[in-house]
Amino acid sequence: MSDSPRLPDARLAELIDGLVEQGWYVGPSFLPAPLCEALHTELDDMTAREALVAAGIGRGDNHHLRRDVRGDAIRWLDRESLAQRRYLEAMGDLQQALNQALFLGLFEYEAHFARYPPGAFYRRHLDSFQGRANRVVSTVGYLTPDWPADGGGEMVIYAPADGRELARVRPEAGTFVCFLSDRIPHEVLPTHHPRASIAGWFRRNASLGGLVDPAR
Ligand code: OGA
Ligand code: MN
Repeated sequence: MSDSPRLPDARLAELIDGLVEQGWYVGPSFLPAPLCEALHTELDDMTAREALVAAGIGRGDNHHLRRDVRGDAIRWLDRESLAQRRYLEAMGDLQQALNQALFLGLFEYEAHFARYPPGAFYRRHLDSFQGRANRVVSTVGYLTPDWPADGGGEMVIYAPADGRELARVRPEAGTFVCFLSDRIPHEVLPTHHPRASIAGWFRRNASLGGLVDPAR
């Protein structure tokens, strides 16, 4: 892994244009290949050590498992490895670029590794709900090299207005997706191949009824 996780300005500008013009962006070869390799190896190790947990839906007391909704296994990033710190540094650069260009007031980033075993999917959903939008911008970075043509597992992006399919993204290592969390419906089609990614969210601190943003 090189010691420069910096995202090129031209790619950041392209991402910001995508968010402004359509509310979403898909960037092939966006993340540095050596960083994706290191993160992929780390996720493989976690899988072998059984360090992942079944993902649920909802937060806090509302958190529950729904295998009919999503079938991935996750682990939150904790900055324990160099690769994680590099990834989070790159997301810090992105946060700064988003705040400068769009005045979003993003103040925090949370992210988890996700592994979808063959057969797993994540039904169509939004990442946050209007009016309670503590998650403002969603990110997904893909880590699986040489994604097979018949591997399935595409991420589908839908139009907020009429539900039309707008894009289908192959989860190939290096591809990075970014979208507005409360606007863009999306789903993960059933995968036929183990699928590795990092899903993350830039947050604003939403104060709800005098309570600060509840913990995940
Ligand atoms: C999510 C999600 C998409 C993907 O974790 O909320 O929508 O392509 N992930 O992994
Ligand atoms: Mn999502």
